[in-house]
Amino acid sequence: MKVARIHEHGGPEVIRIDHIDIPTPGDGEVLVDTEATSFNPTELAVRQGIFQIELPHTLGWDLAGHHDGRPVVGFVDSGAAAEFTIAPTDRIVPAPQSIPLRDAAAIPLAGLTAWQVVEYVTKGQKVLINGAGGGIGSFAVQLAKRKGAYVIATASSRSTKAVHGYGADEVIDYTRQVPKTPVDVMIHLVGTPPPWPPPARELVISAAAPVEADVPTKHVVMRYNRDMLAELVEMIDAGLVTVDVTARYPLDAMAEVHRKAGEFRGKVIVATR
Ligand SMILES: NC(=O)c1ccc[n+]([C@@H]2O[C@H](COP(=O)([O-])OP(=O)(O)OC[C@H]3O[C@@H](n4cnc5c(N)ncnc54)[C@H](OP(=O)(O)O)[C@@H]3O)[C@@H](O)[C@H]2O)c1
Repeated sequence: MKVARIHEHGGPEVIRIDHIDIPTPGDGEVLVDTEATSFNPTELAVRQGIFQIELPHTLGWDLAGHHDGRPVVGFVDSGAAAEFTIAPTDRIVPAPQSIPLRDAAAIPLAGLTAWQVVEYVTKGQKVLINGAGGGIGSFAVQLAKRKGAYVIATASSRSTKAVHGYGADEVIDYTRQVPKTPVDVMIHLVGTPPPWPPPARELVISAAAPVEADVPTKHVVMRYNRDMLAELVEMIDAGLVTVDVTARYPLDAMAEVHRKAGEFRGKVIVATR
């Protein structure tokens, strides 16, 4: 089978398409006939060696495919940028039926991170979501609105329309304006700290770069949660949350996707077959 992996750390050129045997699942594992994974920018740090991992490393944490003929979506540590993926049984759930299976690979990491960040938001709060144009932001704005928050989001012009579409009450173009309106909670989803003081009165939550603030800060690292993923899928099928896929690439183009990182908004799918 074909697999996109790295044997050494470095630039996008270290990504190789290898041909290896189809793996055999062990106890508590299943073999997923993989259709797609998605690109997450944290993988740039893995590729560069900022995060220590065993090599060779298969890219792609998000997984969409078939198990026993049934469409599933999931999250695997061992990499899903391959034609077949071994997944622990608790790492997959039935895929949504209302969107193409491949696009479902956009959901796990970005959706779960967004949800675990938005868990700190309560009804009626004013929330600033910084980095709303990205994969996590696309889910975070929608989930914060579902919780009854008033959402002020930052986005550049290319993402303004989409972010309004997610339900943001106000969109601030971060390339032209500094967010100054006082909010209860600020959610930070950008890989660099904000170059302005967080206007939060109660709490700053970051899933990305650490933020210095005069109020308590919280850093959220996504914890896989099967029930939460299944619930997200239900919300998508009920039309309560949309999945914003903005680009699709074949597995062979994984290095190109890494080269283009920073040019994307929304979620990017890498189809594995
Ligand atoms: N803690 C965790 O468990 C966890 C999990 C996954 C990812 N992460 C991290 O969370 C961050 C976001 O991930 P992601 O997947 O959402 O990233 P992403 O999809 O790559 O985000 C891209 C978006 O970032 C926006 N952006 C870039 N610079 C910005 C700035 N200065 N101000 C506001 N928005 C800016 C852009 O918005 P426009 O299109 O509007 O320009 C772009 O659309 C990354 O740093 C990632 O490494 C953390």
